[in-house]
Amino acid sequence: MIALVPRPVSLVERKGTFRISSRAIAQAGSADNSVNVRIDPAGLPPEGYRLSVTPEGIGIVAGGTAGVFHARTTLRQLVPPEALSPASSRDDPVRTWPVPCVEIVDQPRFSWRGLMLDVCRHFFPVEFVKRYIDTLAFHKMNVFHWHLTEDQGWRIEVRRHPELTGVGAWRTGTLAGPMRGNGPWQFDGIRHGGFTTQEQIRDVIAYAAERHVTVVPEIEMPGHAQAALAAHPELSCTGGPFEVSRMWGIHEDVFCAGNDEVFGLLEDVIDEVAGLFPGPFLHIGGDECPKTRWKACPKCQARIRSEGLADEDALQSWFVRRIERIVNARGKRLVGWDEILEGGLAPNATVMSWRGVEGGIEAARQGHDVVMSPTTHCYLDYRQSEDLDREPVAIDAYLLLEMVYSYEPMPPELTPEQGGHVLGVQGNLWTEYVDTPEQAEYMSWPRACALAEAGWSPAGSRDWGDFRARLAAHLPRLDALGIRYRALER
Ligand code: ACM
Ligand code: ZN
Repeated sequence: MIALVPRPVSLVERKGTFRISSRAIAQAGSADNSVNVRIDPAGLPPEGYRLSVTPEGIGIVAGGTAGVFHARTTLRQLVPPEALSPASSRDDPVRTWPVPCVEIVDQPRFSWRGLMLDVCRHFFPVEFVKRYIDTLAFHKMNVFHWHLTEDQGWRIEVRRHPELTGVGAWRTGTLAGPMRGNGPWQFDGIRHGGFTTQEQIRDVIAYAAERHVTVVPEIEMPGHAQAALAAHPELSCTGGPFEVSRMWGIHEDVFCAGNDEVFGLLEDVIDEVAGLFPGPFLHIGGDECPKTRWKACPKCQARIRSEGLADEDALQSWFVRRIERIVNARGKRLVGWDEILEGGLAPNATVMSWRGVEGGIEAARQGHDVVMSPTTHCYLDYRQSEDLDREPVAIDAYLLLEMVYSYEPMPPELTPEQGGHVLGVQGNLWTEYVDTPEQAEYMSWPRACALAEAGWSPAGSRDWGDFRARLAAHLPRLDALGIRYRALER
């Protein structure tokens, strides 16, 4: 059985095999001359490809270089799993491997097939970030959403404001154990932190680009900003002081919307981030911003009056619109979590729908682009069994592989025209309870394999039994690559 993940648009098996060298499959995008490659932009979409394996050789025709990359990824899934192990090509670079003869025609359903990694609740260094990108690209996903700032840590170097990482990248401890009830809380007292330099970020972006993955940075505002406020308490409503948070959950202290210095700092940050990341999107968060401080803040209330705003929701909307002008002026498109709909959407904003699908539906109806990422199907921080105690400590909610696989990103409520605004689908790995690379992989795979298929494979082609069988044949590839996934239920 030929078991590709995600499932291609069409696959016809032929008799026979071709033998390919280790070198030709070891590296993503490696050049070698046993594969004949032709680009046909008129015949195929940029990410589309045709792959033909005959006993005489291998031919790829692709709409663009991304299509060539995807065809090579397919090729890497056609060889025996052990061919993918770094040791096998290192030990014997002239070894060859059988590739079954096939004719494959393939292209993605959606243009945004993403995974988000939160490097704030726990810090993950660039070596792991690259490995994560490698693994998502192996499943033909093409967006890496890098969640870089939070209450618990500021993880991106900003040259004009070294205090953001100097203060904001380190916390004195972390909540010990799960967050249940109302305390009292225990902390581990272990200093935790780290940040990524701009030079390292450039390196990650180049690594991702070789794999046709776009990196989307996220800078959280106006909420989830306590690490920044620890460095700049004067940018809060109360003046602080604050610590870089050791706790999870929604924090009341947020950027003051009445203080113009807030926009001065954020403009500096956005200016550097926009200069660093070549992709079209800049994510500004926008989720879970309590309005308690704004309600009691004279500056915020003065802003509501001077701008003629109805209430604090409208103030958040005003905040996001002001930020959108800064983002757009640097040639970038603003993305935000679905709370940015409250009080009215900024004119050009893209919405990431996480509290269910309603935000995505509403935004698409208003003519805005959306990425679907509802907690019900896309939250990889949820446990992987209904029996919560069988799984490592995590959020007290579960999301089974089968449930992820059942996800249909296109809401049936939308007209075809509105549906055109659905860019795609994304899985999110929040890391409150994920503190090692091993755990991050365990939570991500194989559930993200199911999301990859929801984003790539044709509507109506999904079949749980077929996927389950393909996955059983696919997981040995992850073993060979050293990816520590969760085993399938028997
Ligand atoms: C989110 O999960 N707060 C976007
Ligand atoms: Zn305020």
